[in-house]
Amino acid sequence: MTTYLVEGGYPLEGSVAIHGAKNSVLPMLAACLLAPGECVIRNCPRLSDVEASLAILRHLGCPARREGDAVVVDASAPAAWDVPDALMREMRSSVIFLGAILGRMGQARLCAPGGCELGPRPIDLHLAAIRALGGEIAEEGGGLSCRGTLRGADIVLSLPSVGATENAMLAAVCARGETTITNAAREPEIVDLQNFLTALGAKVRGAGTPVIAVEGGAPLHGGEHTVMADRIVACTYLAAAAAAGGEVELTGADWRTLVPVTAVLTEAGCRVDSAPGRIALACRQPLRGVRPIRTAPYPGFPTDAQAPLMAALCKSRGCTVFVENMFDSRYRHVDELRRMGADVRTEGRVAVVYGVPRLHGARVRAADLRGGAALAVAALGAEGETRLEDAGHIGRGYQSLDGDLRALGARIRRLEGGKS
Ligand code: UD1
Repeated sequence: MTTYLVEGGYPLEGSVAIHGAKNSVLPMLAACLLAPGECVIRNCPRLSDVEASLAILRHLGCPARREGDAVVVDASAPAAWDVPDALMREMRSSVIFLGAILGRMGQARLCAPGGCELGPRPIDLHLAAIRALGGEIAEEGGGLSCRGTLRGADIVLSLPSVGATENAMLAAVCARGETTITNAAREPEIVDLQNFLTALGAKVRGAGTPVIAVEGGAPLHGGEHTVMADRIVACTYLAAAAAAGGEVELTGADWRTLVPVTAVLTEAGCRVDSAPGRIALACRQPLRGVRPIRTAPYPGFPTDAQAPLMAALCKSRGCTVFVENMFDSRYRHVDELRRMGADVRTEGRVAVVYGVPRLHGARVRAADLRGGAALAVAALGAEGETRLEDAGHIGRGYQSLDGDLRALGARIRRLEGGKS
């Protein structure tokens, strides 16, 4: 078991570079399967979800190796079309391999996906998109068997799901003819995926808008791409500086993708300075409660930043209302924050944070990736020591949360199986 020991009450000062985005690199690794050649993905973070994706690629017969900050994947000769149950269960986003495997191999077999416990996470939109492209899907015994030759189609998503948009893009690249994806998700990671696919020779346009057009069947080849910086990691570190006080600079992050979160931090009393490739935050006074924060698809407030921002606002003057519109069960950090002296009350999708003047260290447990990171954020602003257990979840999305925070002056230690 991974445990973090955090001694709170020390302001953060300094600069860290933000690593590549998990939510970009996972669909890109699936996209590698489409190209009969070598793909080089630079700025690829070392995350457990990335390792799970590499294991899937290797199982499919695509050698994958690390070279410095890059991964190199060779999908010249994939030889399998199934994702074993154990790999599927490790990561919910493994469903992103469905469109790519089916498109490249003409058939695919997957079991039900795993991942964070955020309440029911259906994949009906993924399946509807694949079916619209001509994939035949049989759902049997908790698994999916798919086959078919894909043809371009008009896909209309009933809600702008990130994963379904990506799955549809990957399958459509292999389908003969034109595909349009309407009500597509507009997240920056989808633009990043489009840029990667373009580097491989695919004809995709419109990412970042609600309509994506794919001219399928273009011959693909290997290619290179550098992954964008992870905006949720950046938001987490900004929240950490807001919670602990101090002044931090983050490099590599695109401030334009952070505006929904930096606007809230500014309203709470932080000073934010943005420039191309750099964002700085200074917090020299207690935070203020802010207007209601409602999570929404991009460019709304990201659900993945809800927990870290809530952790920062626990110690504030006034009250802040959160409305979680994206996932059920995304308040599992709240009980743990209460152990640290926070006053947060939840009712369904709504959480009300009554700011308190101080938090205290406690023994807490991470239940999921972002909730776990949020507890580290709260601990940095709390008096005394926090023991954050089950912190292994955090490694799914942060290459080195403790290392980065230490570089900013935080007193945080990581113990593996009780040893540092
Ligand atoms: C992605 C991100 C995740 C982020 C989420 C929302 C990755 C690897 N993960 O997850 O970090 O929290 O976007 O920004 O990129 N839905 C359906 N049917 C479906 C698919 C989704 O009803 O077939 C619903 C979900 O239950 C949820 C909403 O759509 O309520 C949004 O989910 P979606 O955008 O698909 O999230 P993910 O792609 O799973």
